[in-house]
Amino acid sequence: MCGIIGYTGNGNAEKIMLDALELLEYRGYDSAGIALLHQGRTQIIKRAGRVKDLRKLCETVKPVGCCGIGHTRWATHGGVCDENAHPHRFGPVTLIHNGIIENYRELMEKYHLEGRLASETDSEVAAAVVEHFYTGDPYSAIRRTVLKLKGTFAFAIMFDDQPDKIFAVRNVSPIVAALTQDGAILASDVAAVAPFTTDYFVLPEFHVVCLEKEKVSLFDLSGDHAQIDWLKVDWDVSRSGKCGYPFYMEKEIMEQPQVIRETIAPRIRDGRPDFSAEQIPDSLFTDCKRICVIACGTAMHAGLVGKSLIQAMIGIHVDVVMASEFMYNDPVVDKDTLVIAISQSGETIDTLEALKFARKCGSPSICVVNVMGASIARAGEYVIYTHAGPEIAVASTKAYTTQLAVLYLITARMAMARGLWSGEELSDFMAELERVPQVIRRVLDTKEEIHRLSGAVLNARDVFMIGRGLDYSILLEGSLKLKEVSYIHSEAYASGELKHGTIALITEDTPVIAVVTQEKLKSKELSNIREVQSRGARVLLLIKENETLDAGEQWSCVYRLPQMKDPFMVMPASVALQMIAYFVSLDKGLDVDKPRNLAKVVTVE
Ligand code: M6R
Repeated sequence: MCGIIGYTGNGNAEKIMLDALELLEYRGYDSAGIALLHQGRTQIIKRAGRVKDLRKLCETVKPVGCCGIGHTRWATHGGVCDENAHPHRFGPVTLIHNGIIENYRELMEKYHLEGRLASETDSEVAAAVVEHFYTGDPYSAIRRTVLKLKGTFAFAIMFDDQPDKIFAVRNVSPIVAALTQDGAILASDVAAVAPFTTDYFVLPEFHVVCLEKEKVSLFDLSGDHAQIDWLKVDWDVSRSGKCGYPFYMEKEIMEQPQVIRETIAPRIRDGRPDFSAEQIPDSLFTDCKRICVIACGTAMHAGLVGKSLIQAMIGIHVDVVMASEFMYNDPVVDKDTLVIAISQSGETIDTLEALKFARKCGSPSICVVNVMGASIARAGEYVIYTHAGPEIAVASTKAYTTQLAVLYLITARMAMARGLWSGEELSDFMAELERVPQVIRRVLDTKEEIHRLSGAVLNARDVFMIGRGLDYSILLEGSLKLKEVSYIHSEAYASGELKHGTIALITEDTPVIAVVTQEKLKSKELSNIREVQSRGARVLLLIKENETLDAGEQWSCVYRLPQMKDPFMVMPASVALQMIAYFVSLDKGLDVDKPRNLAKVVTVE
């Protein structure tokens, strides 16, 4: 939530920041602003709206300066308006913030701030506290402020009398920093840094970084120099634009064959799953008595597929817990519970906190993360990176299918380590996994057909999605996708549950999407479909290409999925559902990549 950028150097700071804010906008797009420090004077330009609106404003104002900070906001405290946009200024202090200051009311009282603030934000309170402690020593002011704060924060701060310098500090919320050819830069994530350099570092929590034109210096909170652990950007920057697609979501859907291949290929050796590069010992897979997956949203839906796979193939119990609920259900995890934390961004605060708790309880853990060096990757015991590359569209697509790919690999390695499968069974499973990219390519090649079929739900107010078992898990994700990008109310139902209440909502012409991919569930699923059809529902059926359908029945809308073995049908079916959601959003003329009220990275609880 919220994107942060800071740059000092000989380049065009205004342009660098505006371009970076566009790359970071997926983190929040309620308002945007920049501040430039020039000859002891700080100029702030900010407004509610998108970065493109800020860019227009800058064309009129023409700010000057080569040291600046910029912000794109997802509103938490205070509504969406110009005043609440960042940067915030108090005396000589100018500050941007990502996170939540939980004790901001107490701080307002303690430092007599009532009536002295220009906004309703917790962030301006933090700026005022920094100002309170500032007597010319930025480190001391930042250290003393941080010790007073409760909550999460990533701050970038400028002081009028500290020319060309930007200071930053964080707790939980991310900041990365780097040196560029002509300056120094910091940002909420590496996507904004990658156009300038491949070398960057993650600011450690409760450390202060100072950016100057030619150097970056890192200090701990006692003021001692700290060592910088440099990392390398692990994706091809030339692939981070839209590459001719109208929206990132379409581009990211289309990238799936390639990124799934890139995720599985390095982990297959001699046809067997292999996590030696991740240094994951087999004991992790053999010693656990149960598994607990923690994740949110789409990542949690990937976990549900993992549960079905592992329970069916390994025979051990798997719980999938919404990370946001984890702490409220008196979690029982221990040294016998393997915790798998799944997160594209690696920054989702609920997942991070749940993981930290599980580790305190002695649980071994694997994190499945897309962003290199992210907080969750660092908080876990082992990490398996999905190689999806930057996922910019708020709606997750390629991150989900690469998470699934990793879960197939984990299942296979677990079966192998436990000696559950014959050599032939293992090879068959791995061969099918390696076939996934080409099968997805076949779905992508039917883009026009899927676009046409998406018309079945285009004007709907409500859509129901029904299926059982793995098909139900597929639909939970398909339904989330449709809701978030098209604003159509849609619900996934385990089709056996319909008769226990929900079928009351099915009336003449209600659109229903049904997925039938599992042989053992087919006859029951088809019966459930007939039940809604006889109440007037219009059914769009996704079914395997070689299934025969009763000729006597009415199937106006059928999409034939390329054939895979049942446990792998999740892949083609999910991609087809992603495309339906995409085309509905596109045809409604919505901002597909930035749905209302959402942000890509959820760093507040
Ligand atoms: O970065 P994470 O994978 O931890 O994010 C979790 C959810 O916020 C995320 O999957 C969200 O549900 C998707 N953007 C939905 O498409």
